[in-house]
This record gives sequence, structure tokens and C-alpha cells, in this order.
Amino acid sequence: MDNDKRLIWLGGKLIPVNEAKINVLSPTSQFGANVFEGIRCYWNEDKQQLYAFRLADHYKRLQNSIKIFRMKSPYTDEDFLKGLVDVVKANGYKEDIQVRQTVFIDGLGGTWSSCEPVNMFIAPIPRGRTLIEGKKGLRCQVSSWERISDRNLSPRAKVGANYINSRMAHLEAQQNGYDTAILLNDNGKVAEGPGSCFFMVRDNTLVTPPCTASVLESITRDTIIRIARDLLNIKTVERDIDRTELYICDEAFLCGSAMEITQVINIDGYPVADGECGQITKRLFDTYYEVLTGKHAEYSEWLTPIY
Ligand SMILES: Cc1ncc(COP(=O)(O)O)c(C=O)c1O
Repeated sequence: MDNDKRLIWLGGKLIPVNEAKINVLSPTSQFGANVFEGIRCYWNEDKQQLYAFRLADHYKRLQNSIKIFRMKSPYTDEDFLKGLVDVVKANGYKEDIQVRQTVFIDGLGGTWSSCEPVNMFIAPIPRGRTLIEGKKGLRCQVSSWERISDRNLSPRAKVGANYINSRMAHLEAQQNGYDTAILLNDNGKVAEGPGSCFFMVRDNTLVTPPCTASVLESITRDTIIRIARDLLNIKTVERDIDRTELYICDEAFLCGSAMEITQVINIDGYPVADGECGQITKRLFDTYYEVLTGKHAEYSEWLTPIY
């Protein structure tokens, strides 16, 4: 489908994307007063079905973000689900997509402290899968920018304004010739990527920062910990990670709904192992895709059929 012709859900109506407008003076436009989710839906050719991945968990986090930022939202989880299903069906997608579901402070009289009126848009975006084969992997720089913390702007909430911190780190890394950044938190320990969580492998064990280390409570992070434990018998330790551990780890990857699992091959100029995708990362990647595409019945409650 022509991207310009797709329909967006805005305030309860299905509108052509180019006609979906928000007032320039709204607090979302002026101050980043919005919370959102990026939800993956995977097309299953055999079943001729599109499956949204871990929708209930995305909606739980969206409600948490709304609560943290004191937004007076009228939306229930059922409203979230109905809007998503309606807009995807209206567009008739039969391919992998990502859905951006954003709850925002609307209106033209508001300020940065306004709690209402709350509005929502739901925008499907066609998006293919990340391929691990033939992909070189990421070269990362430990950022000179510190990750926001729960003492200032909580990384636990998925609020639009948080991404300015991500932006600074990512663009600095690219300016310096890297693909992206790894941010340290206010304790000088590894936090996360600009839009992703971080894992490394040391001595056949997965290691990732705890959810209190200035990271988003990531759904992919949780998925990886669970499938590593239940399907691959690989243990994950959630603990602080020192910067120099990045230079001596056996494998590393960034993960998130958008980037799925993407191997990191170099950090600050130090090659990660031999600079190729590691075995544990590859096994996790393959298993992750099996789960997303419904090949493991024990995780079927994570998949919501759209049609
Ligand atoms: C800062 C940050 N961390 C982690 C993630 C990964 O979260 P999830 O796996 O829920 O997509 C994202 C993705 O949106 C993110 O923006």
C-alpha cells in the first residue's frame, strides 16, 4: 500500500494520514507531552493472520506512563485494543508492521503542566524484520551523555520528551563515526541504548542491567530473559554492568520491539569477541522469531490475532 494513502486512527476517527492534524499549540507539540508504545505485528503466511505481539504488556506500560505523568486519560485497555484493531483492519495490512500508539495532551490553550484534554492517535507503519545473517552488526560508542534517571525524567515511562536524551546520544555517536550509542546512568553503570535495551554474554551467561538502572521496562528484554531460561536453558543475571566489562564481554546485543535483536560487534573501538555475531545471540535471535511467529504454543497468549 502507498504509505501516503494509509489511514490513521485519531480521536476515534479513521483519517487519511495527510489529513490527521494536531494543533501546533497543543502541549504535545510544544513540550513533548505524550506517551506512546511501538507495537509489532507479524504476518503469518501459513495462517493468513496478522499477530500483534504482547499487546496486553504494551497496554499495561502505556497505562503506567499515563499514570506517572498525571494525564487525565479516558482510555481503557479495551479502547486501546479496539482502536488498534480497527485501524489495522481498515488498512488491510497483510505484512509485518509496527503500530505507533500515542496518547497525548491536546488542545490549544494548554501549557506544559496541562493534564487534559487527552487524545490518542494510532498509526500503522509497514516495517520488515531485522535480519541477522549478512548484517554486520553495530559499532557503538559509550556516550558522553548520561541517561536520564528516575530522579529527573524517568526512563521507566515511555514519554516523547525522553527521546531528546536518546537523540543527543545517538547523533553524537553517529557524528563520531559509530552506528549508535550505549548510555551510562547517573551511577556510571551501563543503562541502555537510545531506543533499546542492552545485553552482554560473559561466560555463557546473559547479563543485563536491572530495571532500576535507568532503563525502560522493556517488553523485548523480558521476552529474551524468559525464552533464554525456558527454551534455551540460558541463565540471565540482572546486575550493574561496568563500562570496562563492555570491552571484554564475549557477545553483546541491543534489543527492542523496533530493532528486535541486533548484535553489537564493537564498543568504543574494542571488538566484541571476534567481531562476528556470537552463538548465543544467534540462538536467541532464531528462537525469538519462532516465538513471534507462533511456533511455540506455550507463548500463544503473547499473540493477538487482528483478523
Ligand atoms: C529507551 C528504550 N529502551 C528500551 C526499549 C525497548 O523496549 P521494548 O522492548 O518494550 O520495545 C525502547 C523501545 O522503545 C526504548 O525506547
